[in-house]
Amino acid sequence: MSTQRRLHGRISKVLAAALLTGAVSASALMLATQLRAQTPTPAEPPAPAAAPSPAAAPAPATAGSIPAAEIPFFAEWASSPHANKKTEPFNHWNKEGNIPVECARCHSTPGFRDFLGADGSAPGKVDHPAPVGTVITCVACHNDKTLALTSVTFPSGKKAMNQGSAAICMSCHQGVESVVSVDKALGGLADDTVEPKLEFINVHYGAAGAMLFGAQARGGYEYPGKTYVGRFAHKEPYVTCTSCHELHTVAVKVDDCAACHREVTDKASLRKIRISKADRDGDGDVNEGVAQEVEHLRGKLLAAILDYAKTVNGKPIVYELEAYPYFFYDKNGNGEVDSGEAIFPNRYKAWTPRLMKAAYNYQFITKDPGAYAHNGAYAIELLQDSLNDLGTKVKVDLGKAVRP
Ligand code: HEC
Ligand code: HEC
Ligand code: HEC
Ligand code: HEC
Ligand code: HEC
Repeated sequence: MSTQRRLHGRISKVLAAALLTGAVSASALMLATQLRAQTPTPAEPPAPAAAPSPAAAPAPATAGSIPAAEIPFFAEWASSPHANKKTEPFNHWNKEGNIPVECARCHSTPGFRDFLGADGSAPGKVDHPAPVGTVITCVACHNDKTLALTSVTFPSGKKAMNQGSAAICMSCHQGVESVVSVDKALGGLADDTVEPKLEFINVHYGAAGAMLFGAQARGGYEYPGKTYVGRFAHKEPYVTCTSCHELHTVAVKVDDCAACHREVTDKASLRKIRISKADRDGDGDVNEGVAQEVEHLRGKLLAAILDYAKTVNGKPIVYELEAYPYFFYDKNGNGEVDSGEAIFPNRYKAWTPRLMKAAYNYQFITKDPGAYAHNGAYAIELLQDSLNDLGTKVKVDLGKAVRP
């Protein structure tokens, strides 16, 4: 904790120096950083700290002015997904012209500052829609409210205290649904009865905080009568967002992992990490990576979802990774996404509670590509339990798979 506080102190001093000299005003810094972010694509290496970018020119060039290139961690941040002006998460609302309050908190700098109360408004809620065209800049994560932010409330209502600066990350990477909202939507309905009013409940994307905290966040659909692991208890200090991920590029610290996990040689080989010798997917292979155990269970779950929808519901379903809301009617029943199927008007509307719970968990894990590292045991429990629940109606083969 005291280290966190000291770091916070250092950042505020550095940023305060930059901001308070009047050389770079808060809005000029935001503007400069946003404009600068248009240039590099994420694939390019971070720009070396060289000449000030032309975009920084509009900032008042008073004595002692600080060129963007001299701002600490600017290049790292500029190469990160948080600075990528071109991606869907920062362009989804361009046609509407502003970002609604339900979305602004995690998809814009003014929205996040509004949520925190850093704009002078009441903390804990977004008061105004945010303008389009911002990314997540320095002043989203560095302001007088984030200095004191160490706790996070998950969509289930569960709270995690004393998380240091990782609480900043988890304020956005937490998803928007939980077992609580799923149970509320399904309350009182019979397991295998189609309810035409139901729409797919989408937990959202990159909900790493909810995955990491497992049963302490309840982001997955947790089946009644089962127990679930809590926070991933990895060896210290690799237990928080900011110990496994670089602070500003947010890349995984692959070299750190390699120091203990010998199978790691590059980013792709993170997926080979394995310590536990228990078979999770029932294929008898206890040397494949935890990521593969998760991957195989995910494959089995999708097959069971398709089978259930076809044989129990009589309404075949397909899943399309890139098209909202992901589950669609499989009109020709061939088990594949054909052209014209993955469109909103053809979205799946024949949900039974049993199918919804399994599909919810499938999406939670699919849309967190780091699930195996964030909390492999929780992901595996959710996948196995979803499979066993569908397995009361369709054939599911988990062999001698061991539940964590
Ligand atoms: C609690 C924070 C949070 C809220 C609230 C939120 N989002 Fe997101 N959203 C995220 C994060 C984080 C990502 C990026 C995840 C990643 O790339 O790993 C994301 C990604 C997206 C994407 C990109 C999906 C993709 O497949 O690339 C869309 C579209 C999106 N959100 C739409 C919305 C909409 C619409 C709303 C409001 C109804 C909303 N979000 C509210 C956190 C949030
Ligand atoms: C997505 C959130 C996020 C963004 C955006 C961000 N930072 Fe940070 N930064 C952090 C976190 C988290 C820490 C660690 C703070 C701690 O541990 O107390 C940090 C630490 C720092 C530090 C201190 C590092 C040290 O080792 O002492 C500086 C300086 C800093 N940031 C500057 C910046 C600048 C300048 C920008 C914009 C170019 C920026 N940050 C953007 C999250 C962010
Ligand atoms: C204000 C909300 C917000 C905060 C705070 C935030 N993120 Fe993000 N994060 C996002 C959004 C939105 C995206 C998607 C950006 C994109 O696709 O370009 C994202 C993307 C990412 C990605 C890349 C995901 C991918 O699909 O490649 C990682 C990794 C990440 N964030 C980690 C972190 C870490 C670590 C922190 C804390 C230091 C943090 N984030 C803080 C909203 C946030
Ligand atoms: C034990 C180390 C560890 C911890 C703790 C951790 N991560 Fe990760 N994270 C990873 C690994 C490993 C990946 C997957 C990288 C891969 O396979 O390409 C990943 C992937 C991600 C992704 C998806 C990136 C992508 O390419 O789509 C996001 C977003 C993310 N992490 C955010 C976070 C946030 C936010 C936290 C804190 C709640 C966090 N992580 C905690 C190790 C960790
Ligand atoms: C100091 C040594 C050390 C470092 C560094 C380290 N780990 Fe680990 N890791 C372990 C140990 C020991 C275990 C097994 C026991 C435990 O979970 O604490 C483990 C377990 C794991 C597991 C679960 C394996 C299984 O079979 O269930 C994953 C995933 C993982 N680590 C990912 C990472 C990632 C990603 C990084 C880098 C960001 C990392 N580790 C860095 C020591 C380390």
